[in-house]
Amino acid sequence: MKMKPKSADELLNMFNEFLVTLPYERKPKALYDPIVYTLSRGGKRIRPVLMLLTFNMFRDDPERILMQAAAIETYHNYTLLHDDLMDNADVRRGCPTVHKKWNANTAILSGDAMLVLAYQRLSDWRLGCGQTNSQQKFKKVLDLFTETALEIGEGQQYDMDFEHRNDVSVEEYIEMIRLKTSVLLACSMKIGAILAGASDDDADALYKFGERIGLAFQLQDDMLDVYGDPQVFGKATGGDIVSNKKTYMLINALQRADRQQRETLEAWISKDEFEREEKITAITNIYEQLGIRELCQRKIDEYFNESKAYLDMVSVSEDAKVQVRSYTTAMMKREK
Ligand code: IPE
Ligand code: IPE
Ligand code: MG
Ligand code: MG
Ligand code: MG
Repeated sequence: MKMKPKSADELLNMFNEFLVTLPYERKPKALYDPIVYTLSRGGKRIRPVLMLLTFNMFRDDPERILMQAAAIETYHNYTLLHDDLMDNADVRRGCPTVHKKWNANTAILSGDAMLVLAYQRLSDWRLGCGQTNSQQKFKKVLDLFTETALEIGEGQQYDMDFEHRNDVSVEEYIEMIRLKTSVLLACSMKIGAILAGASDDDADALYKFGERIGLAFQLQDDMLDVYGDPQVFGKATGGDIVSNKKTYMLINALQRADRQQRETLEAWISKDEFEREEKITAITNIYEQLGIRELCQRKIDEYFNESKAYLDMVSVSEDAKVQVRSYTTAMMKREK
């Protein structure tokens, strides 16, 4: 690395400019319009930015992997189409979700097409890495991505299974969010490292780093689902409470509740018909009584602190790490 690494903002702009140039020339429009709609609603672009930042720790030419960064973002957005259908969520990024704007079948089929597009983009090495061993690198990248995509499906299944159980442990919850969310952040960083030609040790350390950041990130998402400002967060709040998601907050509330609080929690959980706002308020009140928000924030801080040791292990200069450090630090203060 000779040049100063680019800032996350510079890489984000570079990525967004690239993303809008991707053509959608195939038909029928009804399949592709929801894809263009979804990918043009913004979003934080955390995964592509992490991939580009990681690549840029080792090499000066992050523009070479814009197509792979687009692949990850396309894949992420595919999971959102299906996730919103599964979670019965009406709003995302401040706009109607695809199954609301169109219908459930559209969310399924356009989502499927995005998954396929993600693979096509990932294995498009027109921009290449400008190095020897390209084929070997892409084999590694495809294997890692495939493994990750399977894990995400597994995490999503646990997430749904847990809605129907009241005895989910903290360990089970952490493993579930590792699978559904954290492995994709980890994978994005490791792909950036592999494509940059980093050593296996560095690529693995960056995976571990991304995994810890990812756990903190999903804990935050769960917290924002209760305490966020819907206008800023871009999603309706309270959805996790309504659908009995076994978040770190609800699991701890169930474990720490006295008899009366536990009865109240269980009564709300087992009710089939209820006033949405009433349930959200009742459960949030118990969180308040038990100090659950603070508990969750401590867990977030714990994972963020743990992550640092892995970034320290990476064998590049401190100057090369600066942007990754500041971006992930800022991520931990997010409100959306
Ligand atoms: C939402 O991801 C799904 C989760 C894993 C929590 P993001 O919070 O990254 O969503 P966007 O892409 O910025 O909208
Ligand atoms: C999302 O978890 C995980 C995946 C999309 C794989 P959530 O269901 O909490 O994400 P949001 O809150 O809808 O974005
Ligand atoms: Mg979900
Ligand atoms: Mg959801
Ligand atoms: Mg959520």
